[in-house]
Amino acid sequence: MKGPMAREPGQMEQPSARQLLSSQGFDEGMAKKGKELVNQFYILMKTAHIHEPANVALDTPVENVVRTLKELWQWSEDVHLRLEGDSLLLDDLKLRMDIEGFISFASLIEALKRLQIGGLLFKKSTGAEELKRLVYILVQTSPDAEDPYQEVVGKMKQAGIAGIEVDPFEERTETFENILRDTKEMAKSTYFRTMTAVAEVMDNIKLGQAVSVKRAKRVVQGMVDLLLQEESTLLGLTTLRSHDVYTHHHSVNVCILSLALGQRLGYSKKKLTELGIAALFHDMGKASIAPEILNKPTDFTEEEWQVMRRHPILGVKYIIKLKGINEMTIRMVTGAFEHHLNYDLSGYPKLDSKWELSLFGRIISIVDCYDALTSSRVYNRVPYPPDKALRFMLNKSGRAFDPVLMKLFVNSIGILPIGTLVLLDSNDLAIVVQASSNPERMDRPKIKIIADPTGKEIDGDIVDLSELIEKSGQSIVGIKKIIDSSKHKIDIGRYFL
Ligand SMILES: [Fe+2]
Ligand SMILES: [Fe+2]
Repeated sequence: MKGPMAREPGQMEQPSARQLLSSQGFDEGMAKKGKELVNQFYILMKTAHIHEPANVALDTPVENVVRTLKELWQWSEDVHLRLEGDSLLLDDLKLRMDIEGFISFASLIEALKRLQIGGLLFKKSTGAEELKRLVYILVQTSPDAEDPYQEVVGKMKQAGIAGIEVDPFEERTETFENILRDTKEMAKSTYFRTMTAVAEVMDNIKLGQAVSVKRAKRVVQGMVDLLLQEESTLLGLTTLRSHDVYTHHHSVNVCILSLALGQRLGYSKKKLTELGIAALFHDMGKASIAPEILNKPTDFTEEEWQVMRRHPILGVKYIIKLKGINEMTIRMVTGAFEHHLNYDLSGYPKLDSKWELSLFGRIISIVDCYDALTSSRVYNRVPYPPDKALRFMLNKSGRAFDPVLMKLFVNSIGILPIGTLVLLDSNDLAIVVQASSNPERMDRPKIKIIADPTGKEIDGDIVDLSELIEKSGQSIVGIKKIIDSSKHKIDIGRYFL
């Protein structure tokens, strides 16, 4: 934090309070409070969207933010929440976005960026009333204004807000490290933003409201751009799992994996975007299925299966109700309708006339099956490790799946897909983080060591096994065997966050 840490010229060189505290988990404590602040501030903004300022619904969210600010003020004069690239920082401490907080993080970052605001500084004098006024200014300022930032500043002045300052959004200087870090961060925030877009569409369908996929289209376009530079980071993120929002993760994963396959088919950006959208909303029909069925921890009864099998048709119904029918919506219709149909036309919905599967439908059905096998929809089902899922699917190639696309899919994610847990010859445990750069040696991907031979967890090096082929005398020579991560209760996804 700024204030108390700044050293006056000539002052004795003394360790700052922060340096002193860092050994006592100070940063961790600050980061935790910072995350709380982001979450509470987001809830406050969301509440202000729905309710008038005088509504009692505002009381608790305002109190929560003020309480957290007070806790943070114990450490410093000002609480400075700011944007850098696609990250949120508390002064210069980066707040790491995690699965629980992703919606608050992504939404707050987006809201600030849209208003061209780069930071919020809360002085120690900030009170509940000022905070409330600021939030209404933020919520009521249109991002389409000519200079939304200046408009916010003007309104704050008018409202007499002196305890809070806003910074303008600044694009960062483009050093090589920044660009590299930013694209990684961008991949993460794109992943979570896409999840938020799916959640929004599904919620609106549930509420029977008019639905638009405009925002989703924008995020998918961003994802297509990213795929070209950060494919392995995006593929790594598909290993993220959360039972609570399974359908949302699954939708985004199917989108990313479909794009990876579409790219190998030489699709244009426009076509990739259409494929991405169709993949993202292939399970749209699940929006109206009761969560008790969707998240049922045990097997479905026959009646429940019947409900589940209706989702492709329901999906089609929702898609044709979307605002504006165009080429993209037609693509979406085929994705939703065909993704549980097999290559030999078995599967569901049952067809009573001749049918020719679309390429999009065939792609999505492969990817959909892979993601479903490798993740666990319910707590008690053990997910397949990636290599086992691929073998299982290859066995069904030609009957369930288009054999050419199936081969291409294996090529695009590798025989040892990202997220595979492996035991090395050195008895170190590692996970695959990138497909092999040598197409001749797909068995030698890039790996990250996560545990030493004694089983102790370590933050090990990233090793490119394809580069270690000739070099003799290396302790790490290759992969001894593939390990089933579910048996070892290792949360693979966290290595990609
Ligand atoms: Fe489905
Ligand atoms: Fe699905």
